[in-house]
Amino acid sequence: MYLGLKDRVAIVTGGTRGIGLATAKALAVEGCVVAVCGRTPVELDGLFSYTVDVTRPEELTGFVNAVHERFGRLDILVNNVGGSMGGGGFQASTVEQWRGVFELNVFSTLVASKAAIPHMKAAGWGRIVNVSSIWGKEGGGGAAYNGAKSAVISMSKAMARDLAGDGILVNAVAPGSVYFPGGGWDKRMQADREKIERFVQTDMPLGRFGSPEEVANLIVFLSSAAASYMTGSCVVADGGQSHSNI
Ligand SMILES: NC(=O)c1ccc[n+]([C@@H]2O[C@H](COP(=O)([O-])OP(=O)(O)OC[C@H]3O[C@@H](n4cnc5c(N)ncnc54)[C@H](OP(=O)(O)O)[C@@H]3O)[C@@H](O)[C@H]2O)c1
Repeated sequence: MYLGLKDRVAIVTGGTRGIGLATAKALAVEGCVVAVCGRTPVELDGLFSYTVDVTRPEELTGFVNAVHERFGRLDILVNNVGGSMGGGGFQASTVEQWRGVFELNVFSTLVASKAAIPHMKAAGWGRIVNVSSIWGKEGGGGAAYNGAKSAVISMSKAMARDLAGDGILVNAVAPGSVYFPGGGWDKRMQADREKIERFVQTDMPLGRFGSPEEVANLIVFLSSAAASYMTGSCVVADGGQSHSNI
C-alpha cells in the first residue's frame, strides 16, 4: 500500500511514551520528520522532542508554530495526549477533575488543531488524528474521562465536515485497553494483578491487552495518503472489548 508519508512533517502530542511514542516511531519509519512533546524532557532517537505542557494554550500554540517554522511545513497532527486523572464515577468526581480532564483531552486537541490548521490550509493538505477511547463511544471508564473522550469524537466530526473543502482530513481513533511498561494498565496490574488478569479474561475477547504499536498502525494509516476517502470517522481498535454497535 502506498502511504505517501516520506518527508511529511508530523506532530504527536504526548508522544514520549505509550501510544504516542509508538505512533511517532511508526511515522518516522515511513519517512516522516516527527516532533513529539511531553512535560518531562527526554531524548528520543530519530525524533524531535519538545518540553511542553499542553494544558497551557500559549505553550502548545508556540510548540506547533515552532515545528512549522523549523521544518517549513506541517502536514500531520496527532492529538494523542490525554488521560483520566484518577478516574472515578460521577459522584466520586469533582468539578476540578472534570476541568482538568477536559483541559488535557479536549482543549489540548482544540488548541493544537487551531494552531495547525492555518499551516495545513496554506499547503492544501493535512491530516489530523484525534485519540479518543472506546469510553468516548459508550458509557464506561471514569465519568469525566467518558465525557471528555465523547467530546473529542464530536469535535472530530465537526472539524472534518468544516475542513473537507480545504484538503484536511480529520478522524478519531478509539483504542480499547492498551498495555505497556510504565503505562496506566501496568500500574493497575502492579497494584492488583489478580483483578486485572480477571478483567482481561472477562472483558477482552482476544484474551489480552492491545499494544501501543497496534493502535499506532491505525493512526499511521489515517495520517497517510491511503486514507484519502476517510474523514469524520471514529475507528475502533480494541480487540472486541467495546459493546457498541455503532
Ligand atoms: N492506554 C490505554 O489503555 C488507552 C486506552 C484508550 C485511549 N487511550 C488514550 O491514548 C492516549 C495516550 O495514552 P497512553 O496510555 O498511551 O499514554 P500515557 O501514559 O497517558 O502518556 C501520555 C503522554 O502524554 C504526555 N503528557 C501527559 N500530560 C501532559 C501534559 N499536560 N502536557 C504535555 N504532555 C503530557 C506524557 O508525558 P509527560 O508525563 O512527560 O508529560 C506522555 O508522553 C491518551 O489520550 C489516552 O486517553 C489510552
